[in-house]
Amino acid sequence: PILTPFIDELPTSQSIKIQNGSQLVLGAYKITQVLHSNLTATTLYAYGTSEATATYPGPTLEALRNTTSYVRIENYINDTETFLMTDRTIGWADPPNGGVPIVTHLHGGQFQSDSDGHPDGWYTAAGDYGPTFSSKNHTYPNTQPATLLFYHDHTVGITRITVLSGLLGLYIIRSPTEEPSNLPSGDNEIPLVIQDKTFWENGSIAFPDIGVSPSNHPNWCPGYLGDTILVNGKVWPYLKVYPEKYRFRMLNGANARFFTLTLSNATLRFIQIGTDGGFLPNPLNLTELTLAPANRADVIIDFTNITVGTSVYMNNSAPAPFPDTNAALNPPGVNSVMEFRIVARKGRRSRNNYAIPSNMTTTPNFTYDLTKDVYRQFMFDQTVDADGNPIHILMNNATWTDPVTETPTLGSVEIWDLINFLPDAHPIHIHLINFLVVHQQAFNATTYTANECSLAVEYPDSGTCFSEGPQEPNSTLVGWKDTVISYPSTVIRIWTRWTNREGGSFPFNASEGPGYLWHCHFLDHEDNDMMRPLIVLQ
Ligand code: C2O
Ligand code: CU
Repeated sequence: PILTPFIDELPTSQSIKIQNGSQLVLGAYKITQVLHSNLTATTLYAYGTSEATATYPGPTLEALRNTTSYVRIENYINDTETFLMTDRTIGWADPPNGGVPIVTHLHGGQFQSDSDGHPDGWYTAAGDYGPTFSSKNHTYPNTQPATLLFYHDHTVGITRITVLSGLLGLYIIRSPTEEPSNLPSGDNEIPLVIQDKTFWENGSIAFPDIGVSPSNHPNWCPGYLGDTILVNGKVWPYLKVYPEKYRFRMLNGANARFFTLTLSNATLRFIQIGTDGGFLPNPLNLTELTLAPANRADVIIDFTNITVGTSVYMNNSAPAPFPDTNAALNPPGVNSVMEFRIVARKGRRSRNNYAIPSNMTTTPNFTYDLTKDVYRQFMFDQTVDADGNPIHILMNNATWTDPVTETPTLGSVEIWDLINFLPDAHPIHIHLINFLVVHQQAFNATTYTANECSLAVEYPDSGTCFSEGPQEPNSTLVGWKDTVISYPSTVIRIWTRWTNREGGSFPFNASEGPGYLWHCHFLDHEDNDMMRPLIVLQ
């Protein structure tokens, strides 16, 4: 259907403050919700404290740093199968009595692995349990620095379906002592969950049900791209803003779409103050802001000098697949995200005391020694059928169920080189820790392979292996990350340390439970083996 942009107001989802030590019970429900005024209500799965209050996206949960949250999640989805087509030929939960399995992961959070939402720890409403299931309770110690996390379903083999169907929500860790003073707050702090979907005329989500290599996988497709952009669950919404500073807590919640956000008013900037892992040392003044799936950004936009009665549009210039320049693949609607309407604040003086901080935190420093620290290389590649269509997307040719190979020792530093032989960029996410990008370096795939370049540990310079020297991380890659863009024909080197951010021990036993994982955050890829187990050794 043709949906008119900017006729629905941006919703802000219900927010729930979790008190120290108390338990919050959420359920996953099947609901319908109106995502655009001219669209029939859409069938969705959604989190909420009750069926009546469940929404897509789910409630925004808030916890104070160093308080403990207990979150229990019940599965009330009684469908016999997902309403978007499950592909039964890829490794998936496959509960013996049918139903829709769920298991919830708090993305970017640091906790013991039996609270991590292990993909094989799913459970259904009917009472079937996956092999690594331990509990529906999650204990979150919230000891990590203040930042924006998000919770989402992580069930093995169907995450692309359950998240696209609505099972995600935001989680904010606040830390008053850490926050710079006078950041925009209250009504001037607004979460933005940006996603894409395609709809049928009847309002239901259009999801391809014929696979790209149907003789191998009858239904699986490698990357869901919708033709319609939603923010906080509304199609191309508008938001009324006063001529003041606003703080936006942004998440790219898409299955596979990158967003490069721009603002239609050339005087405005995205003043980015935080990324996945929390505050940046200093703000970045950006004319464009790229978010890979699962990336978050903490951004101030200063509308102070924008004329009341005018509008500013937030647009998207990211090609899909990213970073190809063949934008012909993009339907025009995906270039538009939302509208900001500047209105006068009535009855009260504008809040002009909000400040843009100049310094938020210390610059992360790191050292490593390739002769002493564990050094790992990962090649990203795919298997294809006779027509060149992907069958599996793999990391070092291993699948999710192959034996674990990533076994970092608690407290150690490891250097990982992510070597991307695939034709497009992939957002790579590691559970449990935040990491730093050391550098990235582009190569020519043919000469790289021919010269056995992966054996060269200290990439000397351009020439035989690389087409350039090591590049400093760009604005999309700076700061503490949990999800990082691996560009095609590029090696990205990341510095990982298997401790908390300060280098101290975790306040929980990281070597207990079913273990962690790392994966591509294209949900369609993690469902089809671009995902590997990870166990932290004591
Ligand atoms: Cu948001 Cu393992 O993922
Ligand atoms: Cu991928």
